Amino acid sequence: MITKRFFSLLFTALIATAAHGATNEEPAVTVIPQPVKMTVEKGHFDLKPSTAVILGFEDEKMECATDFLNEVAEPIFGTKLKVATGKTKKGAINITRDESLGEEAYRLEVGNKGINIEASTSHGVFYAFQTLRQLIPVEMLKSGNAKSVEIPAVAIEDKPHFWHRGVMFDICRHFFTVDQVKEVIDMAAMHKMNRLHWHLTDDQGWRIEIKKYPKLTEIGSVREDSQVPGTHHQVNCKMEGKPYGPYFYTQDQIREVVKYAADRFITVVPEIEIPGHSVAALAAYPELGCTGEQYKVRTIWGISEEVACPGKESTFKFWEDVLSEVLDLFPSEYIHIGGDECPRVAWEKCPACQARIKAEGLQNEDELQTYVNHRIEKFLNDHGRKMIGWDEILKGGVSPTTTVMSWRGSKGGIAAAKAGNTVIMTPNTHCYLDYPQGKDKTIEPPFGERRPDRPHYLPLEKVYALDPYDQLTEDEQKYVIGVQGNLWTEHIATFDHVQYMLLPRMVAIAEVGWNYEGKDFDRFTTNMKRMLKLYDAYGYKYAVSYWRENGKL
Ligand code: ACM
Ligand code: ZN
Repeated sequence: MITKRFFSLLFTALIATAAHGATNEEPAVTVIPQPVKMTVEKGHFDLKPSTAVILGFEDEKMECATDFLNEVAEPIFGTKLKVATGKTKKGAINITRDESLGEEAYRLEVGNKGINIEASTSHGVFYAFQTLRQLIPVEMLKSGNAKSVEIPAVAIEDKPHFWHRGVMFDICRHFFTVDQVKEVIDMAAMHKMNRLHWHLTDDQGWRIEIKKYPKLTEIGSVREDSQVPGTHHQVNCKMEGKPYGPYFYTQDQIREVVKYAADRFITVVPEIEIPGHSVAALAAYPELGCTGEQYKVRTIWGISEEVACPGKESTFKFWEDVLSEVLDLFPSEYIHIGGDECPRVAWEKCPACQARIKAEGLQNEDELQTYVNHRIEKFLNDHGRKMIGWDEILKGGVSPTTTVMSWRGSKGGIAAAKAGNTVIMTPNTHCYLDYPQGKDKTIEPPFGERRPDRPHYLPLEKVYALDPYDQLTEDEQKYVIGVQGNLWTEHIATFDHVQYMLLPRMVAIAEVGWNYEGKDFDRFTTNMKRMLKLYDAYGYKYAVSYWRENGKL
C-alpha cells in the first residue's frame, strides 16, 4: 500500500524545503541558516579526492575560501582538493563571478555533472562552501580516506538579510584562550555570522596589551579573588578565595585572532569600555579616576560607582592613546566604546568633572557622558572609523553618526532608529545568551542555575522570536543594520559552558540575521537536529533543552 507517509517522504526528497512545518520529520537536505531559496533535486554529485576546484575569478581572499573548503575535504579524503584557475569543467567545483550578486550572496547548484558556484566575491564563495559542508553526510566528515561522498542535488540562491550578524564574547569576567576564541569564530562562521564583538576591558579585568600603558595588563589583568558563578553580589555572594589572572592577550595574539577571523570573513569589533566599567584600568592608573584613591580590580560582579574621570584632560589622552593602539590592531570600520552602566556618583562629587560641566556649558552629568562620547567619536571619525555604543549613550543626546546597540530591550534601538541613527538589535529579552535556557535544573546542572541578578529565562523559542523590526515603520527599519547574541561570562567559567550557552541559541540569532523573512521555528528546530550531529562531529557542546522539554528528542 502506498501510504501518505510514502508520498510525504517522496515530496520531502524531491521538492523544496520550505514546508516541513510541524511534522518534526528530518528532511533529507537541511541548511541552517535556511537559504532564501532552495530546491532539492533528483540525483547527487560524487565528490571525490580528485574533484578539482576551478576558479573563474580571484580576489584577495579567495584563498581563504578554498582553504576552508580543504579544511573540510582533508578529513574526509585524507588529501586536499586541487585548486586551479581557468574555465569551467565538467565534474569539477566551478566558481564563476556574477557581479550582480551582493558581497555575501551566492548561488550553488549541485548536479550529477558537477558543482557550480556563482558569487561576486570570495565572501559569497565562502558561504557557498559553508552550505556545501552541511550537504555532506555528517558521518563522512571525519572518515579519513573516503573514495567518494554523495552530495544531494540542490539549487540554492542565498543572501543575508542583515549586514551585521554578530556574537559578543565577554572574556573579562572569565578569560578564554586564543584557541577558544578561534573556536567561537569557527562556530559563528559555520552559521554565516560575520562579526565577533570582543569585549576586552571591564571592571574585573583588562585583557588587551597596550604598549604605552603596561600596567593595564600587569595590574589590571589580575584580581585578588572572584565571585562564585551563580551567586549574587548583594544576595548570596560567595567568593572563590583565590586570585584570578594575570590573563590577557598580547598584541601578537590579538593580531592572530583578528587574522583568523578575517580568514573566515568575520570582522572583529573590539570593545573598550569608556567611561564606566573601567575599574581594572583605574587600578592600574589611579589618576584616571575622580579621587585618585587606590582602586582594586573588581572581584565581584555588578555595577561599580568607580568610573573614569572625564574632568581631566589626561583621561582623554589615555583614551586616545589606548584607542590609537586598538585602531592599529583592528581594521574594523566600527569600534565599540561601551558607554553602558556609568553611575554619576563620582562625577557629582568631583571638582574636575564639575568644572568641565561648567566650562562646557553642560546641563548635568548625563551631558558630561555625551561630551565624552562626542569627543571619542570625533577621534574615531578623524581616524576613519565609526563608533558603536550601548543604548545608554542615547541619554544626554547622541550624534547622528553613532550606531546604537540596543540591549535594555528594544526601546533604545527603536528610539535610535526613529531618530535616524543606525542600530544593532541585541535586546536582553531575546539576545542575552548568558540567561538560562532550560526549565529543569536537573537536566542542566550546573549550567541552568537561576541567578538572582539574571532571572530571565531565555529558551530557544524566545530567541528565535526576535523581531528586530518590531514597532518600526518600513522607513525606520532601514536603520536596523544588524542583530547580535551577547555572551556575558560572570557566571560562565568554562569553555564547555560557553558552547552550551551559544549552541543552539546563537544559531537562532544567525537565522534571524540571515533569513529574517523566511523565519519558521518548527522548520528551524526540525532541521537543527542534523546540525547537532554536525556539532558532535566537531566536538562542540550544545544544549538540547528545547527538544528534551518538548518531547522531540
Ligand atoms: C550590558 O549588558 N551592560 C551592555
Ligand atoms: Zn572626575
